[in-house]
Amino acid sequence: MPFQTRISTIAALSLGVSFIAVSAHAFEPTTPPEPPKFPAEGKVTYVPRDSILEFKALPQYSQPDWVAEKFEKTGKLPPLKDRLPEEPLVYKTGNMPDGVGVYGDTMRHVVGGRPEGWNYIAGQSQGWGGIDIALSECLTRTAPLFQVNAADTEPLPNLAKSWDWSEDGHKLTMHLVKGAKWSDGEAFNADDVMFYWEDAVIDPQVSPLGGGASPEAFGEGTTLKKIDDYTVEWTFKAAFPKQYLYTMAYPTFCPGPSHLLKPQHPKYSKNTYNQFKNAFPPEFMNMPVMGAWVPVSYRSDDIIVLRRNPYYWKVDEKGQQLPYLDELHYKLSTWADRDVQAVAGSGDISNLEQPENFVASLKRAADENAPARLAFGPRLTGYNLLMNFSANGWGNPDERGQAIRELNRNPEFRKAVTSAIDRKAVGDSLVKGPFTAIYPGGLSSGTSFYDRASTVYYPFNLEEAKAALKTIGLVDTDNDGFVNFPAGTAGGKNVEIVLLVNNGYATDKSLAEGLVGQMAKLGIRIVLNTLDSNQRDAKHYGGQFDWAVRRNSTELFSVVQNSEQLAPVGPRTSWNHRAPEGKPLDMMPFEQDMVDVVNKFTASQDNAEKAELMKRYQKLYTENLYTIGLTEYPGALIINKRFSNVPAGTPINMFNWAEDAIIRERMWVAKDKQGKYELFAEQLPGKPGDKGPTQ
Ligand code: GLA
Ligand code: CA
Repeated sequence: MPFQTRISTIAALSLGVSFIAVSAHAFEPTTPPEPPKFPAEGKVTYVPRDSILEFKALPQYSQPDWVAEKFEKTGKLPPLKDRLPEEPLVYKTGNMPDGVGVYGDTMRHVVGGRPEGWNYIAGQSQGWGGIDIALSECLTRTAPLFQVNAADTEPLPNLAKSWDWSEDGHKLTMHLVKGAKWSDGEAFNADDVMFYWEDAVIDPQVSPLGGGASPEAFGEGTTLKKIDDYTVEWTFKAAFPKQYLYTMAYPTFCPGPSHLLKPQHPKYSKNTYNQFKNAFPPEFMNMPVMGAWVPVSYRSDDIIVLRRNPYYWKVDEKGQQLPYLDELHYKLSTWADRDVQAVAGSGDISNLEQPENFVASLKRAADENAPARLAFGPRLTGYNLLMNFSANGWGNPDERGQAIRELNRNPEFRKAVTSAIDRKAVGDSLVKGPFTAIYPGGLSSGTSFYDRASTVYYPFNLEEAKAALKTIGLVDTDNDGFVNFPAGTAGGKNVEIVLLVNNGYATDKSLAEGLVGQMAKLGIRIVLNTLDSNQRDAKHYGGQFDWAVRRNSTELFSVVQNSEQLAPVGPRTSWNHRAPEGKPLDMMPFEQDMVDVVNKFTASQDNAEKAELMKRYQKLYTENLYTIGLTEYPGALIINKRFSNVPAGTPINMFNWAEDAIIRERMWVAKDKQGKYELFAEQLPGKPGDKGPTQ
């Protein structure tokens, strides 16, 4: 580490002591300013956890008439009661904002993503925007918990309909919904769960979509075994680690159809891992799912159409099989277009999350005759600048890249970078008004775990930032305005940093472009590597980046969901520090401390202790600049007014995205408001691999 000063090494090691005492510089960290008040429009009515759903047999069941007439009576489908589990999941009427619904209509989504294929458990994206959420069902479910009081919160049952803890708390027995079927009629059972665990989670060559599903996410040394077709048993090192019930929700424990996937997996075939991953390309239609709709049609850069799953295992209290909506559309467009179409009424739903679109959308929605409702939620959307902390080879950096990694690991360097960012200007560049707040990084100010006093903020101070660079040996030796590496490091060339950016979002791009300017003032040259989201993710997961601009994911605002991603608790759980294949994680001391805190948090049963631990986490994170915060702001859910059963105050993301939280399978449209959008009216999914739906 040629340019790492002794001082900064000491700073990195002496976590107990305030770094002001040992810092070479007069950085004057403080707490961030109070975020501007932003009264969320959508008010949530809190309900007890057990008021949402239950599992039970009902005296009778029904389905859309056309399914009964055209499919059941003709023998194309078995009788409904044989398609449903012994005890279906029943949504309670009392928790439905508008009560039991009627069948029909379509929900039209617009997305900026593109599908890579249907192998979700091997990490293929389906184009986001809630499409994978509509296809995949998970052991537990957490998104609807936004309406449950925090004290009462435990994940909802889903594919796991109940569970019991052993007396000593080390074993958790889960009972799977009995008799539920995949959308092609095959039985769903413990074999699907075991295949997912053994051949996706535990297999280091497979990494399910969402990134976090590695064994450590369920605790070091955790095992899972099949007891019988509908029972699995977890064994944990810790006692009562109830936190893992969150990890069993989306996106980390959503099994795929083992009857299709297993024969393609390298362990059971001659396929390579790549062949396995790509065995079900976007053109492969009618992929079996446990979700409420099945993909039946795909036209590249145009649309994906999903039709109702005739084997869906959820019903309302009247015994009507869900979903109420017969069809889903996914128009393959851009994320900005999603906002535009949702407010205009040609799309049905959007998470308004790009501040560039706030003003126009608000104006449009304010009109009494506007087709869509728009409601802001808490300030939970944030962006960070991630620095790649791996110095032992994640992503195989070249000499320059390696030198940047060493810089990233230097606390003086990180302090210089963070102090060179004018966050007020960053926020205002996206949108004026009370939306954005100064965000130093770490837990989002909108989460209940946030503690401002534990948040360390290095205010904008360009002069100090520049001085700091000098003391770590970064000087502009050739007078071109950009600092150079010291002679002997990376050829003494200009420090040039490649910033990975997702080109699907205006916000990501404006933040990245803003950084180019702000870093230029510091004397650091930024080169943008702007890629579409699938390519970006491949680079990111492969560690091929120096820095990355990244929209925060769930762990920073939910905290209890995806908490393994709060720190490098395993080789593949962190967003900016993963281990190269076969090598250890080269954690810095403060990261080890963060890991210890997160592990304690996961094991703790005590809410007060959990809150304290998150204060320590926040301090460690923001003081040491685990990432560099950029900005944070609230988002709004836009939903077409014709839909019923939209829970008031649904946040665009709290435990999961709104597409999950609004419980789409329970939404309906009154007969007189139904649109004529169905492309495959009165058709159902075909057999796996069939070109389209069947009549
Ligand atoms: C994308 C969108 C989000 C949300 C998610 C769902 O990331 O930007 O608003 O729809 O997909 O996965
Ligand atoms: Ca120079």
